[in-house]
Amino acid sequence: MGEIVARCWHFNERPKEMVDANTFVLRETPVRALEDGEFLFRTLYLSLDATNRVWLSDWDIYMEPVLIGEPMRGFVFGEIVESRHPDFPVGAHAAGLHSWANHIVSDGAGFSVFPPLDGVDLAEAFAVLSVAGPTAYVGLHDIGELKGGDTIVVSGAAGAVGVMVGQIAKLLGCRVIGIAGSGDKCRMLTDELGFDAAINYKTEDVERRIGALCPDGIDLCFENVGGEILDASLAHMKDFGRVVICGLISSYNAKDPVPGPFMFRNVIMRRLTIRGFVILDHADRLPDVMSILVGLIADGKLTMPLHVVEGLDAAPDALNLLYTGGNTGKLLVRI
Ligand SMILES: NC(=O)c1ccc[n+]([C@@H]2O[C@H](COP(=O)([O-])OP(=O)(O)OC[C@H]3O[C@@H](n4cnc5c(N)ncnc54)[C@H](OP(=O)(O)O)[C@@H]3O)[C@@H](O)[C@H]2O)c1
Repeated sequence: MGEIVARCWHFNERPKEMVDANTFVLRETPVRALEDGEFLFRTLYLSLDATNRVWLSDWDIYMEPVLIGEPMRGFVFGEIVESRHPDFPVGAHAAGLHSWANHIVSDGAGFSVFPPLDGVDLAEAFAVLSVAGPTAYVGLHDIGELKGGDTIVVSGAAGAVGVMVGQIAKLLGCRVIGIAGSGDKCRMLTDELGFDAAINYKTEDVERRIGALCPDGIDLCFENVGGEILDASLAHMKDFGRVVICGLISSYNAKDPVPGPFMFRNVIMRRLTIRGFVILDHADRLPDVMSILVGLIADGKLTMPLHVVEGLDAAPDALNLLYTGGNTGKLLVRI
């Protein structure tokens, strides 16, 4: 084999708002020879996630941030092309939390072998299983104590987590209302993914529409966005309703303090339970949740729209799609 060159994006300069041309720099290094207990991984897909932007901030966050100069961290899916590691044989597929790189030498830390899935598209399986599917499942069941028949409002509904939340809740006989940022996204939710209704927050009065669609109130608000959209749901919660704070994407690029939520008084008036969570804390649940999700995909009961961007070079610009609403479903970079 000729010399393999690994290309990897490194964190270069902290962005003030959106990621820009100076945020990352692409470095090339020859791949070194493997030692015992190592394998060479060729990345096929890089997952872009809203939290990637959070890792670049100087906030006190839920894990180590990415430091300036370090490789950019990300969830990757690929194949083992050389191996001196007994658990990662050549030809196997694997997924893990590593870096925005096309070739990775690893001792296995953070990686796991991806099970062969008959008849299931590997990109779709990775898109569901890497983060979005477990986040939706654990968020609904473990954090939100989902019950059949609940009325649910989910924001960021046409994104990766949102489409999972709606479909999983529908399987339990819930009534699901999604909030998203375009007519096409709203049509996809109702016409293709089984949501009962969808609200276009860019053209409609979200608070009034939630009131009209949920005259008896919301049992479970699954929040991916925050800000005015969270406020609109808080205004219509049922007594003892549950609010799952999964994400607050509307504030991740904020450079000034973010006000609100203004309807916080309803935590008392409606005796609400509000719980935030991070899926990385629920590793013990993953084996069970993964096998449930794999079964649902294989049975055609769970689908993930994919938004695929071509080439590692495109990754930095593509990350901004999550903040402009440019993606529908799971945003992946094909390498
Ligand atoms: N807690 C956890 O463990 C965990 C794990 C994974 C993800 N998350 C969170 O889940 C949320 C979704 O993440 P994802 O990776 O699946 O991304 P995604 O939903 O696929 O993409 C983000 C979507 O958010 C919407 N959005 C962006 N800025 C917005 C704004 N200012 N106001 C309203 N909507 C906005 C856009 O859709 P529109 O066109 O509809 O605006 C965009 O397509 C994020 O908040 C993320 O941090 C949390």
